[in-house]
Amino acid sequence: MATNHIKIFDTTLRDGEQAPGCSMTLREKLRIAKALADLNVDIIEAGFPAASPGDFAAVKAIAEENRGPIICGLARCNVEDIEKVHAAVKGADNHRIHVFVATSAIHREYKLKMAKEEIIKSAVGAISLAKSLCDDVEFSPEDASRTELGYLAEVVSAAIEAGATTVNIPDTVGYTVPAEFDNLFRYLHEHVAGINDITLSVHCHNDLGMAVANSLAAVAAGARQIECTINGIGERAGNCSLEEVVMAIKTRNEFYDLQTGVDSTRLYPTARLVAGITGMQIPRNKAIVGENAFAHEAGIHQHGMLQHASTYEIMSPESIGISKSNLVLGKHSGRHAFRNRVKDLGFDLEDFELNRAFQEFKKLADKKKDMYDGDIEAIIMNVDNSSAGPWILKSLQITSATGEDATANLCLIDEHGNELQKEGVGDGPVEAAFSVLVDASGVDLTLKNFELHSATAGEDAQGEATVTVEFNGQPYRGQGASQDIVEAACKAYLEVINRILRRRELGMDDSPVSNDVNRATI
Ligand code: KIV
Ligand code: ZN
Repeated sequence: MATNHIKIFDTTLRDGEQAPGCSMTLREKLRIAKALADLNVDIIEAGFPAASPGDFAAVKAIAEENRGPIICGLARCNVEDIEKVHAAVKGADNHRIHVFVATSAIHREYKLKMAKEEIIKSAVGAISLAKSLCDDVEFSPEDASRTELGYLAEVVSAAIEAGATTVNIPDTVGYTVPAEFDNLFRYLHEHVAGINDITLSVHCHNDLGMAVANSLAAVAAGARQIECTINGIGERAGNCSLEEVVMAIKTRNEFYDLQTGVDSTRLYPTARLVAGITGMQIPRNKAIVGENAFAHEAGIHQHGMLQHASTYEIMSPESIGISKSNLVLGKHSGRHAFRNRVKDLGFDLEDFELNRAFQEFKKLADKKKDMYDGDIEAIIMNVDNSSAGPWILKSLQITSATGEDATANLCLIDEHGNELQKEGVGDGPVEAAFSVLVDASGVDLTLKNFELHSATAGEDAQGEATVTVEFNGQPYRGQGASQDIVEAACKAYLEVINRILRRRELGMDDSPVSNDVNRATI
């Protein structure tokens, strides 16, 4: 094991985005990519360019904008996918093509309907093609943890011979356990020639809650790259959580004797940013970045903490970027203080966005006693979403009473000052408001999920609404914030309607994109 540097490969924008309801807009992806670069991850997997024109555009924009981390794109083992990744990532100073094909018996038989030799041939062809376009090529045998060890060693040997510089071992369905994974990595070390000349990587899913433990077992057995996502978002139960695995390596340094290049003080702001953008709230008791992770309620713990923090705290809140007090600004705070706080929270706003956010901040600070980080985050998300138009909510009036239908009367305004006033009824205020928005816009959405949570503590807190809807078989997610929770819900719904109207104006197709991941044609 040549080095004690562990490369952090972040796949929030690829595997994370595959989580239901986590799809992001181009702007949101750029914002997360910037935060990941500030966090100093080694590699950003920016997307799966062949999945859709939107994915391609996002990977390309990230590659062209980010200077620092290696920008990587995912491809199946076919010419079109590989060429698309290359076209998308080549603008980055450092770029990587990541090709994958499944190798386990169950995937061979039922998904790919390919024999062992055909799969090796396809992987070798894909790696060779990728290598002719780019020096840095990663190969993943999907479902490696359920692949026969002897065959896996054969596949990995062939991949290295074909030119792969990183070989990643995925536990695709979160099935392995630490001791078994340790055994797998040691087996590969013993049976694969040239394994010490490449970077061995690990990619774990969390179906049995062991993604972090399995990733740590892999690095203890020689892996030198961990693939992970912020807040552990990802398909089903998610992926290995970046903040947990990074802090385990840092906090237990005397055990692992390894380090990452991650700036841990950026973990908390980045986690909040990703939660805000994806609408996937962080559970209160989530390790490292959950609200309760540093809260000490029991008297005996508080007493110990007052004597010496390390009695009950194995890492400090400051080490992950939680400020001592998150009561930050008030109505007398100036633009300069606001700009600094926005930056500390991980947002990089254009001047016009900062001005809009500052105006909203002043308005809210007039109504609200205490302003917290959560308020600022909610304002920024909202400014970002609602400023894109074409419609902005100008006013909303609701009448409702127990046992009676609710009535919503709302007025929308566009950038040219055109107003649209409509009224409608529903079983409750939110339903009434949504039905008016559908009527006004002509965009008929099917509501799949509606969540509301408070941005901060206190009775005067802003409510943050997240809606997940379906339109033409495609999922969309929208968010809105306001001290009035029906208004917050309306803003969230309107954000989706606006996005669909903008896509239509650009002539973009609304139909779902085929995602045939089984295609392995080389
Ligand atoms: O889980 C998995 O197997 C993957 C691969 C494409 C690396 O995400
Ligand atoms: Zn995965």
